[in-house]
Amino acid sequence: MTAPQRPSHPGPIADLDAVLGGRRMRRNRRTDWTRRLVRETHLSVDDLIWPVFVTGGTNVAEPVPSMPGVVRHSVDRIAAQAEMAAELGIPALALFPNTDPERRDDAGSDALNPDNLVCRACREIAARKLPLGIVTDVALDPYTSHGHDGLMEGEDILNDETVAQLARQAVTQADAGADVIAPSDMMDGRIGAIRAALDAAGHTQVQIMSYAAKYASAFYGPFRDAVGTSGTLIGDKRTYQMDPANTDEALHEVELDIQEGADMLMIKPGMPYLDIIRRVKETFARPTFAYQVSGEYAMIMAAAQNGWLDRERAMVESLIAFKRAGADGVLTYFAPEVARLLGKG
Ligand code: PBG
Repeated sequence: MTAPQRPSHPGPIADLDAVLGGRRMRRNRRTDWTRRLVRETHLSVDDLIWPVFVTGGTNVAEPVPSMPGVVRHSVDRIAAQAEMAAELGIPALALFPNTDPERRDDAGSDALNPDNLVCRACREIAARKLPLGIVTDVALDPYTSHGHDGLMEGEDILNDETVAQLARQAVTQADAGADVIAPSDMMDGRIGAIRAALDAAGHTQVQIMSYAAKYASAFYGPFRDAVGTSGTLIGDKRTYQMDPANTDEALHEVELDIQEGADMLMIKPGMPYLDIIRRVKETFARPTFAYQVSGEYAMIMAAAQNGWLDRERAMVESLIAFKRAGADGVLTYFAPEVARLLGKG
């Protein structure tokens, strides 16, 4: 005896229309054209800033193992990267150096060297006169032997002495052709000091994108591999980067940076801090950027490589999330790939 066949579905609920009263949300989702029509947030190539790693040597293209698809380029290869970015319509790239360990010292002296990797890369790019902004990172960690963003005395990170050094670093970068100075160090008072130093040096048009709310995050791990600080960092950065548990404090940080003269603000990391982006944008209504950091990139890439996530869809969804949260743009290692995808329309 075989069991009686059950219907494949239970049939419609008789009185659902009465419950819905005609309100059916799915109507607007039925077809691609209507989904496009009601879409609230759009990702565009204009939203992208591409972080690029610069390394020593000539004709070096060195993959970063913990960031699949990301390559450190020697200075002679940087202009080609910049040209590619400009051709894709990416508005700006952000430079980060992998300084030779031999050039790193306690004071991060190479940060002030007009011929350091970042300054040389700036000159290479600026000489091409591309429709592309050059963002440079102001902080001492890629230059210090201890891997901290500031100068140290014993275990302490010295604030005011560091700020003086950062202001000089910013001017050095602007002299080399940087368009946007992006201080990522989280010292107190550095935005005001950098603005004053830039103005005094005649760089009144150079913008400042402040890493205003930067958290002491585990998600920077792969970046520290890329700039060679994972091995050198002594301790952690919790005396200057923010506690991941705080949100009012982020507003306070942002407020101070605006008062001190920041033109643009950044929240970092990105996806775990979408609530901060939203609060900052709603409170201050200023140009606000998110940094989808190395660990966020690595998570998506690692899962995709295992076949656990669709890379392209996860990439686009993660970037749309920043826009939806209120970000005006995103620093992302996916920039060239997503620009190509958007270009295809
Ligand atoms: C350091 C700096 C960091 C990043 C940008 N600038 C790392 C850190 O604070 O240790 C992280 C970027 C990333 O993880 O992609 N000044």
